[in-house]
Amino acid sequence: MQIHLDEKPAESVECDALVAITFEGKPNDRFKDSLSEVHASGEATGKMYEMTLVHRPVGFKAKRILLAGSGPVEKFTSAELRRVSAAALRHLKSKSVGNIAILLDGAFSGAEHVEAAVEGAVLGDFEPDRYKTDKKGKKPVEQFTVAVAKKSAGLDAALVRGRAIAEAQNLTRELVNEPANRLTPTSLAEAARQMAVAQGLECDVLDRDRMQQLGMGSLLGVAMGSAEPPALIVLRYKPAKDTSNGKAHLGLVGKGVTFDTGGISIKPADGMEKMKYDMAGGAAMIGTMRALAQLKPSIPVTAVIPAVENMPGSRAQRPGDIVTALSGKTIEVINTDAEGRLILADALTYARRLGCTHLVDAATLTGAVVVALGYVNVGLFSSDDPLAERLLKAARAAGEKMWRMPVDEEYKELLKSEFADLANVGGRPGGAITAALFLREFAEQTPWAHLDIAGTAWLEDTKPYMSKGPSGVGVRTFVNLAMGWAD
Ligand code: BES
Ligand code: ZN
Ligand code: ZN
Repeated sequence: MQIHLDEKPAESVECDALVAITFEGKPNDRFKDSLSEVHASGEATGKMYEMTLVHRPVGFKAKRILLAGSGPVEKFTSAELRRVSAAALRHLKSKSVGNIAILLDGAFSGAEHVEAAVEGAVLGDFEPDRYKTDKKGKKPVEQFTVAVAKKSAGLDAALVRGRAIAEAQNLTRELVNEPANRLTPTSLAEAARQMAVAQGLECDVLDRDRMQQLGMGSLLGVAMGSAEPPALIVLRYKPAKDTSNGKAHLGLVGKGVTFDTGGISIKPADGMEKMKYDMAGGAAMIGTMRALAQLKPSIPVTAVIPAVENMPGSRAQRPGDIVTALSGKTIEVINTDAEGRLILADALTYARRLGCTHLVDAATLTGAVVVALGYVNVGLFSSDDPLAERLLKAARAAGEKMWRMPVDEEYKELLKSEFADLANVGGRPGGAITAALFLREFAEQTPWAHLDIAGTAWLEDTKPYMSKGPSGVGVRTFVNLAMGWAD
């Protein structure tokens, strides 16, 4: 899809369909005369995501105008614009309309709006249909134009930013959607390396031997049951001129379980096929690094992604096994299905050793977070208020919903083991919180935040603005976090 910015009055925009933001109870003045019949009919109410397509609008060069319902104007922010732009593109794409323009005017024609409209279009265009041999004859969208009355400073850059971020998020979605027979820890590392080479990032992949030398017993324990070898993926971005005075170095750690059977503590068969998305945290960090390579934040950013397959097998670790983590702490593996925290423990320690001063991890870590927050909010856990605030701010600007959860010391009781320093599970009560507290033991004194994306990394139903399947959640927030660090 080609994306352009065009400075033209609405009437002169040439395209197959011109998308017009339409607010609830407030017909757009610009179209009042030419579309008077539609307005008089009451068909276009402006309700969020309501789409009204008008052919051959009088006085316009566009072949069609799509009145895109955008809800009440008071509630309309770039988050709504991103979704309306995506929903309009999806609506038109379903009708094989190939050349689309969106009109941004008045209060909604700033850089943040251009960025949101472009992000929406690129994200809306994504379909998890890579392995469908029949794409149902739909024509791809060839052109997407953002039409503004007047080009102001920064709009071109906003378009480039919007495209970079959304394409990165779509890379994450593409990786998450890959089935586990096609995406192993080795091939995830290969995908990360390819991205790094193309984007000019450094990439190191630690193999099993190297991990053994270092003493990553917690990560290696999880990998034991699988014929697929583990990989620890490290991606590095360094600013050309480090303006942060060497103060901040952001570490992004993402869970990369390419398939989670549960191991010996095996999961029920029903729904197990979904566990290919257990590497969504790792994929979010790969996507984020792709965007950062292009947008160049002022601080260094290092991503660490432990990639393993959690399988039962004659060599698999057993409940009751005790492993020694890279940090030196011993862990009693009560449940082999709580594997995410085991691999992240060593990845967090490793990220600290690489010099990261702030750690943010993302993981499809617990079913308990889905019970707590459903499919709407990401669970945010942190004992560092400034970092949590930075993340919430970045998430708000990105239109990603996150809800801060408690991490009181009292919950730590539940992780006591009779035989080792820690147990890897704390029972059902507060399951998402004890998982977070387990991770905190390995972040130690480094400011740390954990995002449990088990409920939000996979959409169960198609939304007007997004296909069902992998959501790519986290990428936009992490990009904002790194880009806005100096502010
Ligand atoms: N990958 C799962 C968590 C998960 C559940 C992700 C549902 C997406 C949807 C994780 O490894 C896991 O199995 N966690 C266990 C922990 C329990 C054994 C303490 C869980 O949540 O049941
Ligand atoms: Zn598991
Ligand atoms: Zn898992």
